Amino acid sequence: VSFKAKRLILFGATGDLSQRMLLPSLCALDADELLDPELKIIGTARSQLSDSEFRNFAREAVEKYLPNGRRGRIADFINRLSYHPVDVTTPEGFKNLAEKAGGGEQPVAIFLSTAPSLFEPTIQGLRDAGLAGEMSRISLEKPLGTDLQSSKEINDAVASAFSEDRIFRIDHYLGKETVQNLIALRFANIMFEPLWNAQHIEHVQITVGETVGLESRVDFYDDAGALRDMVQNHMLQLLALVAMEPPTHFYADAVRDEKVKVLRALRKVSAKEIVTGQYRAGAIDGKSVPGYDEELGKDSDTETFVALKAHIDNWRWTGVPFYLRTGKRLPERVTEIVVQFRCIPYSIFTNAKTVPNRLVIGIQPEENISLSLMAKVPGLDRDGMRLRSVPLDIAMPDAFVGAARRIAYERLLLDLIEGNQTLFVRRDEVEAQWDWIDAIRQTWTEEGLTPKTYSAGTWGPSSAIALAERDGVTWHD
Ligand code: BG6
Repeated sequence: VSFKAKRLILFGATGDLSQRMLLPSLCALDADELLDPELKIIGTARSQLSDSEFRNFAREAVEKYLPNGRRGRIADFINRLSYHPVDVTTPEGFKNLAEKAGGGEQPVAIFLSTAPSLFEPTIQGLRDAGLAGEMSRISLEKPLGTDLQSSKEINDAVASAFSEDRIFRIDHYLGKETVQNLIALRFANIMFEPLWNAQHIEHVQITVGETVGLESRVDFYDDAGALRDMVQNHMLQLLALVAMEPPTHFYADAVRDEKVKVLRALRKVSAKEIVTGQYRAGAIDGKSVPGYDEELGKDSDTETFVALKAHIDNWRWTGVPFYLRTGKRLPERVTEIVVQFRCIPYSIFTNAKTVPNRLVIGIQPEENISLSLMAKVPGLDRDGMRLRSVPLDIAMPDAFVGAARRIAYERLLLDLIEGNQTLFVRRDEVEAQWDWIDAIRQTWTEEGLTPKTYSAGTWGPSSAIALAERDGVTWHD
């Protein structure tokens, strides 16, 4: 279905996400001439701002968060913007908003970056004002619930006004260039796919490390914790992209059908296969940082670190553990996927040890792909070859010199405006993700598990290292 929004309505337009990501991304799209000349952007929030106050807010956001070289003519972008205050709990504001947005006659993209508690009244208001019809698309930011039940409630509320093919659930990791490159790597090359299975892969590691602590989101984070904040969405999406079967096409439902099969094949994690942690005071990059309790100002059992061993029960992956770990206040900001291949079946090199091949896909901060291969050490050895593992490295910024570093939301906003759902999460995916996470949380409760401590600036509690080492696996560093 071809769709091109003429209006983009941003709910929560004065909030943090809008300021740091959405407005700068839209400005970058404008600078690259990717926005329809007729597209108008309407910011809404509860505060009573004038158009010009909102435009100033947007200008400052762009100047602060978008590099100079990517801004184009800010004035052109600012000209697209207007502001309309809406108190989502009353119908009045919606009526005027609907008029401003073309009265339901114009193709409209709506982006909700508000607290989830406002989703329901907002959707109701949009429906009553005639803004939820066939011409409208809606996008929702996480958190989409705190468990399966609450996520179903949100999904039901949206579904009462919008059909699934008009709902765009954001997982911003899917907007990252480097995450999309995973799909290219797997399905645009012949050499990986024949080896991409339990016969040739020994295990997979997915790490999402962050150096930041609580930041400004104290209450949100303390209610969520690392499992729900990072594993439920971003990490499971990465896992699904690594593990899915080849889709028949590169379009929304073909890709999402394959991802959801993987998510549904995830085995329930046992208590032995999961470690949680909470950081104490420590040092990152030589600077001392306070512990979680101190940052929070009270005691808490919320986990800021999770390591777990996942299994996918299907033909391709049976017997291949997927080790996942993520945490705040780790030594490095790094997202990477490590695919550890099996040993060669038989070695002819009697005097040399061979090390199994390993593919490391670096997602951030830098994108690089590194494949370790065994090679002969140069020399005239008499008693057989000496061998060593050497990396075959591709640094993407070197391979694509001059390519702009894009914000994930540029891709996602453009796709929303143009109605392409491929990089958005379908309802069945989110619910499969929650189903698996709920079972983990239930295990914690039943077993009375609480987080172990780790010093800020280390890779989590020592039991996280033991979790892998028990299986003879070392976390990649
Ligand atoms: C968000 C989480 O979804 O992702 C944050 O709520 C986290 O806690 C962030 O810091 C990480 O995103 P990125 O793009 O910086 O890896």
